[in-house]
Amino acid sequence: MPLDLNSIRQRLTAQRLGTEFHYFAEIGSTNTYARRLAEQGAREGELVIADSQTDGRGRLGRHWLSPPHVNLYISFVLRPKLPPARAPQITLMAAVALVETLHSFLPVPPAIKWPNDIIVNGKKLAGILTEVNCGAESVEFVILGIGVNVNYPVDLMPEEIRQRATSVLVECKTKVSREDLLWRLIHDLDRCYGEIEESGFAPLAPRWETYFGWRGQRVRVELLDQVVFGIAKGIDHDGALLLEDDRGRLQRVIAGDVTPVSQ
Ligand code: BTN
Repeated sequence: MPLDLNSIRQRLTAQRLGTEFHYFAEIGSTNTYARRLAEQGAREGELVIADSQTDGRGRLGRHWLSPPHVNLYISFVLRPKLPPARAPQITLMAAVALVETLHSFLPVPPAIKWPNDIIVNGKKLAGILTEVNCGAESVEFVILGIGVNVNYPVDLMPEEIRQRATSVLVECKTKVSREDLLWRLIHDLDRCYGEIEESGFAPLAPRWETYFGWRGQRVRVELLDQVVFGIAKGIDHDGALLLEDDRGRLQRVIAGDVTPVSQ
């Protein structure tokens, strides 16, 4: 079944996000399309939704599997009034909204894998791909892309991802309405986005921390040019990951890929 967008529009009370929908039964990548829209002057909150993607993109050049009729693939055009240094907070803000939405659908609490994955029972349920366009002193626009495995049955997942991917269907053992989930997600994102613009990341930080899966665990962090190991301590007020390295020094990690390792 295609998504019933009218049922979402009718219930939407969000102030800024989802002001206009651009829907495609199939598209290359909603992020790529949203970027094009933004470059042509799209307004804050315009939302690209696709039922399937032929070139779904993940972080670090990875591919995001995007079969039709089962999942959510969405990208928002945002025009936050933030200095470029605070742009990474958009991903953290989105992780809080996404994890809160998903928690309301799941029998067990999901966890955030810093900075952008949502994990349940050790498997990936959803991911965020944020792409930032900056001018000299301000953020011009941000494309906030989110993929959620909703009614994705295990037998439809390619063998190579079965060990690491899950879906709401798999966790709940029943289908959920993609429309309900999308409506709730737009609503939660709108709320969290308002909070971050008004008061910065500080009010969201304790909620992010509640869902952070690996506090106190030894992790491996892949940075652009090196790999570091240490104990994950949480995040600071800017959303950087705090890592206690093997010499006991506290390091701030702005961007990287984190995986837990055995002690
Ligand atoms: C990741 O975990 O690596 C991020 C995955 C992000 C996937 C979403 S699906 C909608 C949007 N369009 C894309 O091409 N990617 C994001």
